[in-house]
Amino acid sequence: MAATRTLSKYWLLTNDFIQNPYPVLEYVRQERPVCEVSLPGGGRAWVVTRYDDAKAALADPRFSRDIHVHYRLMSRKSGRAMTPPAEEANHLANLEPPRHTPLRKAISFAFTPRRAEALRPRVVEIADELLNRLADQARPDLIAGYAEPLPVMTIAELMGVPAEAWPDFLRWSQALREHSPTDTSGVLDRNIRDLSAYMSALIAQKEREPDDGLLSSLIHADPERRLTLTEILSTSFALMTGGNDTTASLVGGVIAALLTHPRERAQLLAEPGRWGAATDELIRYVNPISNALQRVTTEPVEIGGVTIPADEVVIISVLSANRDPDQFPVHPEMLDLTRPKPAHLSFGFGIHYCSGAHLAKIITETAARRLFERFPEARLAIPPAELRYQQAGLVRPLAALPVAW
Ligand code: HEM
Repeated sequence: MAATRTLSKYWLLTNDFIQNPYPVLEYVRQERPVCEVSLPGGGRAWVVTRYDDAKAALADPRFSRDIHVHYRLMSRKSGRAMTPPAEEANHLANLEPPRHTPLRKAISFAFTPRRAEALRPRVVEIADELLNRLADQARPDLIAGYAEPLPVMTIAELMGVPAEAWPDFLRWSQALREHSPTDTSGVLDRNIRDLSAYMSALIAQKEREPDDGLLSSLIHADPERRLTLTEILSTSFALMTGGNDTTASLVGGVIAALLTHPRERAQLLAEPGRWGAATDELIRYVNPISNALQRVTTEPVEIGGVTIPADEVVIISVLSANRDPDQFPVHPEMLDLTRPKPAHLSFGFGIHYCSGAHLAKIITETAARRLFERFPEARLAIPPAELRYQQAGLVRPLAALPVAW
């Protein structure tokens, strides 16, 4: 197969791969299911591609999410002492037990499916507002005008951030996505500082004047579940950075999938009761994220017949796992809304399973339903083969989605 001869040592990062990763992943999954890849700054990572291995790695504490373990490794490799900012060092996605446990309990208590469900009417309003702005445009871009702002505005609403700060939120969220910890331009630091100052003031305000929002629930929790203010601030960063780009990527991908699958789109519009069951298959098929958050091995670990040494970066390919025929035997490459309970890994697995999965589904379903109910004739304004993906951290969003009404 061609992929055998052309597998570059940077194979995970090439533009060809980003545009269509599936043929290379099929080869890697069959031939070298735990495979090395070079990283641009030097060094290497190990990529886990089979569904069973990916699921096992997500649940295995020897593949650590502790940000201090990651920074220690980066410091050693770069010869430069690096420490994580407090906003990143005190939230659940970047810690392992025992510190992860109380943070997870607090968020599970405050951010329930019921709280997400209560946001549904606001998500509908925000979606309609955004569609009003696009309605008069001849060829609107549904990524910049719809898929990107909708999650940011919803998550701002979830945390009780007033509407006048939403444009800043969008800007900060984009800036956090576009810069890596090794970036020395100072842009990342400046954005973290601005966002942190804003959120600290908001938390202080909610401490004085509680409301019924998520931040107030965390701040005024019962003493045995109460987090420190530093942890609450950091948790709010986790909700923003974890929720905005991922959900935007999913919303754009699902709308594109339904634009190119008119039969499935007609079925969902005719029987809206099917959305709940259909959403998981849409998530599996669209693959909004490429990889889970990076892990570092704390000791040598044997997986997929390979022993990964200690202190190695491990990338768990959700893209690959979600198309593994051993897990999804019937045409994994196809969108099949009748597929029984597709147990995709797009929201992770184990103790770090996504806290916002329920909200992400509500936003996605609402975004697609409102769009197609309002504009049943909506169609892609370019041939499907011209759609382009971007690689931005772990998400893989469409760069643009131009439509005609
Ligand atoms: C389509 C949208 C989303 C996708 C694909 C997604 C994906 C994920 C994944 C894969 C993880 C596990 C990370 C790992 O173990 O490597 C995760 C964790 C997390 N997600 Fe999401 N997410 C989405 C939306 C959201 C939203 C809307 C929120 C909140 C508003 C959110 C908040 C979180 C948090 C706080 C964690 C950390 C949980 C923990 O470490 O215990 N996510 N997400």
